[in-house]
Amino acid sequence: MLGNKAFNQKNHLEIAGCDIVQLAEEFGTPLYVYDEALLRSNIKDYQKRLKELHPDSTIAYAGKAFLCSAMCRLLDQESMWLDVVSGGEYYVARESGFPTERLLFHGNNKSPQERELVLKNGIGRWVIDSEWELALLSKEAKNYLHGKLPVFFRITPGIDPHTHAYITTGKVDSKFGLTLVDGIAQRVIRQALSYENLDVKGLHCHIGSQIDSLEPFINTIKAMVRFMDSFKEQNNFVFSELDLGGGLGVPYLEEQKGKFPSVQEYVEAIAKTLQEECEKYQYPLPKLFIEPGRSIVNNAGNTVYTVGTIKEIPGIKKYIAVDGGMTDNPRPILYDARYQAIIANRVNQGSPEMVSVVGKCCESGDVVIQQTETISVQNGDILVVEGTGAYNYSMASNYNLIPRPGVVFIRDEKPYLVVRHEGWYDLVRRDILPEYLIEKGE
Ligand SMILES: Cc1ncc(COP(=O)(O)O)c(C=O)c1O
Repeated sequence: MLGNKAFNQKNHLEIAGCDIVQLAEEFGTPLYVYDEALLRSNIKDYQKRLKELHPDSTIAYAGKAFLCSAMCRLLDQESMWLDVVSGGEYYVARESGFPTERLLFHGNNKSPQERELVLKNGIGRWVIDSEWELALLSKEAKNYLHGKLPVFFRITPGIDPHTHAYITTGKVDSKFGLTLVDGIAQRVIRQALSYENLDVKGLHCHIGSQIDSLEPFINTIKAMVRFMDSFKEQNNFVFSELDLGGGLGVPYLEEQKGKFPSVQEYVEAIAKTLQEECEKYQYPLPKLFIEPGRSIVNNAGNTVYTVGTIKEIPGIKKYIAVDGGMTDNPRPILYDARYQAIIANRVNQGSPEMVSVVGKCCESGDVVIQQTETISVQNGDILVVEGTGAYNYSMASNYNLIPRPGVVFIRDEKPYLVVRHEGWYDLVRRDILPEYLIEKGE
């Protein structure tokens, strides 16, 4: 089992001391359930290790992994920065009272409305992604009401992180960032130095997500410091900050435990490599930013479902259908992602069997778990999929017009609803019927 889980005297699964069967009765299913203490301790692990090894550092949690107002408040309480990638994420953070000076703003195609919102309300760091964006900002940054606009430049360092193609972002062929090839990054940043409304703080890179070894991170730092040094030689300018993005992978299955570097090992490797590379080039040690998402939230989140239809095709397969699926967890259909599940209302009762856990959407690809061994399952059982804290709630959709689940935080063994479930009424909230469509048919 992942995270803080146990079975109680009723033979019910408990997450962070909270009976999941009772929780399902109280809030309904499907439901995302987060262990708040684990969220906070994941954050503290990063903070502690980074403070020890590279004190001049900042951790900007990547909001795309999971964000809602409650998460923003928790991050603020933990003195974190927050990386946002859209006007929507910026808006939710600001509405929750998160300080805008600790927000970092990404995006490869920031809209005029998004740029205006952020320029008006302030930002900690703005990550410029393209030459076109720089041209726009060279004019718009004069509207920034909070001094010079503090900017990073996103670089694609040409590193392959050996992860799924859809979450590889730092190779030369990428929609993100400025390439080092043909001196393009060098030319664009040199141009930026001539704009008096921009304060060029440093460089940013993010090579991908769910990365299972340290080597790509180490190679990235080497490439970045080499570039920073050559930029210094040619332009007599020192970048005072370097943002390495996120990407540390996490286990989703029991057998993957120990396969991924720990947060401690990751922080040690990046801090040490940065120090060594800076010494090698005699480059002033920059302030270090990182942007972990998945490794902070994934193991703290779980999805609670109720089992409905059970279909057995003799000699072939047993399908267990739950009351959610690709609408609350699109990762299996997007990336062939794998998960494990627990029956929460009975432990060690019945003989184990191999089953496929599927969703309720009209797609054969709507599979939650391709194949898993579980105790024999019955209708009405409560099935918990583990490790759904990252890129589940944030990627959920209303496909088939299925309402999205609510979110509960468990704190001190008590549940707190932090996002309510959508209802069917939410599905017509934005619909508009022009007059000519009101007339009824025969
Ligand atoms: C720019 C950027 N920073 C940080 C992250 C977070 O990555 P992860 O959740 O793998 O830590 C992402 C995710 O893809 C990203 O695109």
